[in-house]
Amino acid sequence: MGRVFNFSAGPAVLPEEVLKEAAEEMLDYQGTGMSVMEMSHRSAAFEKIITDAENDLRDLMGIPDNYKVLFLQGGASLQFSMIPMNLMKHGTADYIVTGQWAKKAYEEAKKYGKVNKIASSEDKTFSYIPDCRDLPVSEDADYVYICENNTIYGTKFKELPDTKGKTLVADVSSCFLSEPVDVTKYGMLFGGAQKNIGPAGVVIAIIREDLITDEVMEGTPTMMKYKTHADAKSLYNTPPAYGIYICGKVFKWLKKQGGLQAMKERNERKAKILYDFLDSSKLFKGTVEKKDRSLMNVPFVTGDKDLDAKFVKEAKEAGLENLKGHRSVGGMRASIYNAMPEEGVKALVEFMDKFEKENL
Ligand SMILES: Cc1ncc(COP(=O)(O)O)c(C=O)c1O
Repeated sequence: MGRVFNFSAGPAVLPEEVLKEAAEEMLDYQGTGMSVMEMSHRSAAFEKIITDAENDLRDLMGIPDNYKVLFLQGGASLQFSMIPMNLMKHGTADYIVTGQWAKKAYEEAKKYGKVNKIASSEDKTFSYIPDCRDLPVSEDADYVYICENNTIYGTKFKELPDTKGKTLVADVSSCFLSEPVDVTKYGMLFGGAQKNIGPAGVVIAIIREDLITDEVMEGTPTMMKYKTHADAKSLYNTPPAYGIYICGKVFKWLKKQGGLQAMKERNERKAKILYDFLDSSKLFKGTVEKKDRSLMNVPFVTGDKDLDAKFVKEAKEAGLENLKGHRSVGGMRASIYNAMPEEGVKALVEFMDKFEKENL
């Protein structure tokens, strides 16, 4: 069987070019006679891989010199603990809860200090982004936390909240590198690689230097201190070396595509094809407020559970995989990350149109 169009929310589709290149280099990475998987993380060859990856990411995102780029492990979920342990210097933080991932981060942070939920969209099943222009930001908050793109519900902050001068911390797992960002607006942004960047096992954190100090919560494990990893340039211990190598290849691929502005245009074009169809369909409908729609994760339903299940099954038979919605919400979800080609979205819409005609 050939490759399918894979709409998984993560681990997710990667650029075919990158996979082919990695396959070619599998047994002998650039004349070293070994795979990157077999290589010392202290070798000159790996040193170049990780340095190039960081530099390419800095170029792509325009990361200023006073921000560190860290390649970490433990999934995006470990950041839910590392953030309060490292950044809650005065014991208080504000959280905006716009989905399950933000809620998990909020619940975890409660273990470490006083945590305020200053906005939420849980009242309408997280189907919108609350107005964040004038929030009751706490006087003594060490940071304000958001999940910028809500993978499960398919909403995205189109405008960052007004944090009233407080440090903004954002989980960008599912919108990483999907469009240009102004890094200076954040104290920290982070995400798991397995959606838009590379294999699971790598987490990338971009943190303003002044936030990386020895002043962390008592008892914070060495491995969970940002300073440990910043001082050692992400080589304190054995990093997820092969994953970083693939991320590096994706960064180069993105540069070749024209960088993040080009990706944004491409992603907008792709998402429009799907949203336009949903808006005109008599069978399918989108589940979130139009103004807050994500470019990356597009949930939709027919309104009938059995028909949803039939759709997912028949779509799979047609080579359109992983369209089942998150287990907590049901329905369907198409994740259309950077590496999903426009033909994939067109194939999905054609299939939906056919299914609608057969089932309405
Ligand atoms: C926005 C967001 N944050 C965090 C996570 C958790 O990531 P991980 O499984 O790497 O811990 C996910 C995973 O799907 C996610 O979509």
